[in-house]
Amino acid sequence: MRTLITATAALGAAGAGYVTVIERNWFALRQHEVPVLRPGASPLRILHISDTHLTPGRKRLMAWVRALDDLDPDLVINTGDSIAHPQAVGPLLDALGPLLDRPGAFVLGSNDMFAPEPHNPARYLIGASSHWRVRKEPDLPWEKLRDDLTAAGWLDLNNHRGRLTVAGHDIALAGVHDSHVKRDRYEQIAGPADPAADLRIGVTHSPEPRLLDQFAADGYDLLLAGHTHGGQLCLPFYGALVTNCGIERERVSGLHRHPVGGRAWLHVSAGLGTSPYAPARFACRPEASLLTLVPREPS
Ligand SMILES: [Fe+2]
Repeated sequence: MRTLITATAALGAAGAGYVTVIERNWFALRQHEVPVLRPGASPLRILHISDTHLTPGRKRLMAWVRALDDLDPDLVINTGDSIAHPQAVGPLLDALGPLLDRPGAFVLGSNDMFAPEPHNPARYLIGASSHWRVRKEPDLPWEKLRDDLTAAGWLDLNNHRGRLTVAGHDIALAGVHDSHVKRDRYEQIAGPADPAADLRIGVTHSPEPRLLDQFAADGYDLLLAGHTHGGQLCLPFYGALVTNCGIERERVSGLHRHPVGGRAWLHVSAGLGTSPYAPARFACRPEASLLTLVPREPS
C-alpha cells in the first residue's frame, strides 16, 4: 500500500512538473502557407504572436520571443493579452526588441487591461470568460503598452483601420478591441476593405464568429486572432475541451477557411503564455506562427 501511495505521488509530481515547467516553456514555431495574394505576387511573411501574458520573471519566454527576429519576417502582428503584471511593459518591449523595428500592428486583449485574478480553472468548462464578472476599472498599464508600441511604429488596430506598405505590398488593415470586455466597436471600422489594396487583413483578439463574419463580408482576406490558448489543457487525440469563446473546437487554433461571407482565411494562434494563476499547458505547446502568404490559385 505504501509503495502504491509513493508511486502515485511521484507520478502526480512528475505530471505537475511536465505541465507547469516543461510544456509551458516548450515553445513551438508553427509555419503555414496562406494562398491570399494576387497571382504573380511575391511572398510575404507575417509573424503572428499572441497571448504572451508576460510577467517580468519569464526570461525563457522573453529570450525565445526576441530570437524570432532571426526569422526575418516582413510584418509582425500581435493579437493581444501581452502583459499580466503592472511592470511587464518594459520586459515586453525588451522581448520584442528588434521586432519593433519591423512593420507591425496590434490589438489589445482584456488581460492587457485587468490584472490576473485567481479563479477555479473549472469555470472555463462551464462557459466563456466573457460571462464572468466584468471589471470596470483597468488596473494594468494598457495605455502605456499601447503608446509604447505605437511610438515604436506599430499600428494600433483597436477599433481602427490602418495602411502599411510592406515589402512592396500595399496592405489594408482593420481591427477591433476585445469583445470579452465589450470594447469591440466594429461599426467604427465597418465597410468594404479597399479592393485596390494588394491584401486586406482583419485583426481581433478573440475569434468570435460574429466578428469574423463581418470582417469576411467586408472583404478581408486574412483574419488573425488569439485568445483561445489552443484550449491550453488538451486531450491527446481529441484536442481542446473548450475554446473560451464562440468559435468551434475544430478551429481553436491553426489555419482554416472561414466558411461565411467570402474567401477569408482565419489563423488563430494558440499563444505563448498562460495566466500566472493557471501556469500549465498540456498537449498544447505555446507557439508563435510564421505565415508565408503566397498567390491564390487563379479562379
Ligand atoms: Fe490570453
